[in-house]
Amino acid sequence: MENIKERIDYLRQKLEQYNYEYYVLDNPSVSDQEYDRLMQELVALEHDYKEYDDISSISKRVGGAVSKEFEKIKHKRLMLSLGNAFNEDDLYDFNRKVCESIAKDKVEYVCELKIDGLAMAVQYQNGVIDYGATRGDGEVGEIVTNNVLTIQDIPLKVDEMKEFEVRGEVFMSKAVLEKINNERKLTGEPLLANCRNAAAGSIRQLDSKIAAKRHLENFMYYFVNASEFGIKKHSDALLALKKMGFNVNPHYRICHDIEEVIDYIKEYTQLRDDLPYDIDGIVIKVNDMETYNTIGYTQKTPKWAIAYKFPPKEVLTRVKDIIFTVGRTGRITPNALLEPVRVQGSVIQRATLHNEDFVKDLDLRINDYVYIRKAGDVIPEVVKVELSRRDETTIPFEMSKTCPICGSTLIRKDGESAHYCVNPNCDKRNIEKIIHFASRNAMNIEGLGDKICEEFYNIGVLSDIVSIYYLEDKKEDLKRLEGYGEKSITNLIGSIENSKQNSLEKLLFGLGIKEVGTKSAKILSQRFLNLEKLMEASYDDLVAIKDVGEVMAKSIISYFKSEENRNMILQLKFLGVNFDYKGERIDYNSFFSGKTIVITGSFKDFSRDQLTLILESKNAKVTNSVSKKTDLLICGEDSGSKLTKAQTLGVKIMYEEELLSKINDEN
Ligand code: IVH
Repeated sequence: MENIKERIDYLRQKLEQYNYEYYVLDNPSVSDQEYDRLMQELVALEHDYKEYDDISSISKRVGGAVSKEFEKIKHKRLMLSLGNAFNEDDLYDFNRKVCESIAKDKVEYVCELKIDGLAMAVQYQNGVIDYGATRGDGEVGEIVTNNVLTIQDIPLKVDEMKEFEVRGEVFMSKAVLEKINNERKLTGEPLLANCRNAAAGSIRQLDSKIAAKRHLENFMYYFVNASEFGIKKHSDALLALKKMGFNVNPHYRICHDIEEVIDYIKEYTQLRDDLPYDIDGIVIKVNDMETYNTIGYTQKTPKWAIAYKFPPKEVLTRVKDIIFTVGRTGRITPNALLEPVRVQGSVIQRATLHNEDFVKDLDLRINDYVYIRKAGDVIPEVVKVELSRRDETTIPFEMSKTCPICGSTLIRKDGESAHYCVNPNCDKRNIEKIIHFASRNAMNIEGLGDKICEEFYNIGVLSDIVSIYYLEDKKEDLKRLEGYGEKSITNLIGSIENSKQNSLEKLLFGLGIKEVGTKSAKILSQRFLNLEKLMEASYDDLVAIKDVGEVMAKSIISYFKSEENRNMILQLKFLGVNFDYKGERIDYNSFFSGKTIVITGSFKDFSRDQLTLILESKNAKVTNSVSKKTDLLICGEDSGSKLTKAQTLGVKIMYEEELLSKINDEN
């Protein structure tokens, strides 16, 4: 019985923690399934052992629970996101592609503030809201109508009776966030990290009374089926939205060319902090909506719009210490331990310093003041040292000579900036290898997260990758651990068993071969289709692949040469781990393989996007504009300047009929 009580307490405490990570930090450390699993276990235990049930249990707090109970909906039209621009070059590049695709010298744009909240689609039918849905994965979102109805800016009724869909951003103002956090401070509740997380967390409350208290706001920025209302320009769509009663951000501006866009960006980079809500960039959209289909789409983004992202904010803090960590390849990374500071909504206490040269180039010492920022808005990094604040307490940096875990002497290979621990039995390396193998992008073993791998290693139930598949034999040892019941062990064993069916690229990435990331693992898997075939590949076979460079090829060869690695792979095979690639196939023997191809005009049998996908599945690179590098122009009806250019440059031209027969021959 004591055990049951402990398990219940453990589950409650874990679920509280996960809720906090999800709603407050917007940074969950477990998957939805894992959360559900623990919640179900808790509900079942509270049901079976009434003496331990408690009305204050997290399981009773529907409003606070991570909701899996919102109904899902397939968006009528995909909810796309936007490509990013980080500097003027990116913007000029975007402009050039837009101009080329519609054969214009300059294009009119609408610039808007990029509100930092969450995207919402609202569908109206017969003059009332039909539903409001989150973006989800772009294809399927969650219906959150009840919470949308709590937002004053979104009208419940409109005069327009025809069906239409609008999209916009739901956000929390800076003032509301501050007010809520002040109240939370008084009650001792955890603070909401930033406006965006606060808005996202509020919308996903099952209890709309909670959402209502959060005072969310909305700006609409996209009238999805505007063309059905005879609207031809995005700026007119914004006016129409305003007229229908929606809130449209007043700061948008029509810009007549890309230079005016850049001026707008400069202006709002200055004004940004004075706005009452957070913005994280500027959205630039082509104004003439009739050109959207010609300009086209990538799989996830329109090519007629782009998001300019503001450079990350830099914040000053002090380096308290520099410590060294060990990665799975034995690579040693110096890390700065910082005086905690808030950067763009989260508290940063640590930043990577990459390697010895990086620290020396920065001229960084312990106790120095440094500027830090979040690279790509996520990983904290040190930008520069504030030398004017350096004093006599600073201590010069010295690269460690030994591994902080096993004490063996570190080596720095020729031509590499990193130091390595080369002791194959270094505990930390072994743990990191197991963690990597089980991680989401690799074998995705639910329930075998970082902490658990480390704990299992330390008590001796895990020793290496192969030992994961023997965990079943260690059930009794696991049961003795705090927080482990029959059910969680069974689930863990189940997910280990499931991982055996993964497609090759997950296994390949999981092996942790230096230089082989998720993308290369996929390319190699598509190429070789089976792990043993890849193991037989020669250096020349590997470098012949476009995305495989010399360094990666050498690393792959040396990995598979190792007796120890080959042995491990044999054992995995013996244990029934799948070695085959199960994803979509790429035809490398195709006529189109390796060719750079431009598509122009319209086709009877395909849309341009379909055609692009077909050609990409034949290993072709499809680009936008004809140049000397183009191998082939595929020409439909009404082709314009691209055909003339291809003829001038002597690029081979293929028409639909020939294209069809080639594709049919190959299938
Ligand atoms: S347009 C196809 N306009 O930014 C149209 N998006 O990175 C796609 N966002 O998911 C969106 N302000 O959540 C657009 N004025 C604005 C925006 C905006 C914020 C968000 C939106 C979108 C994300 C794209």
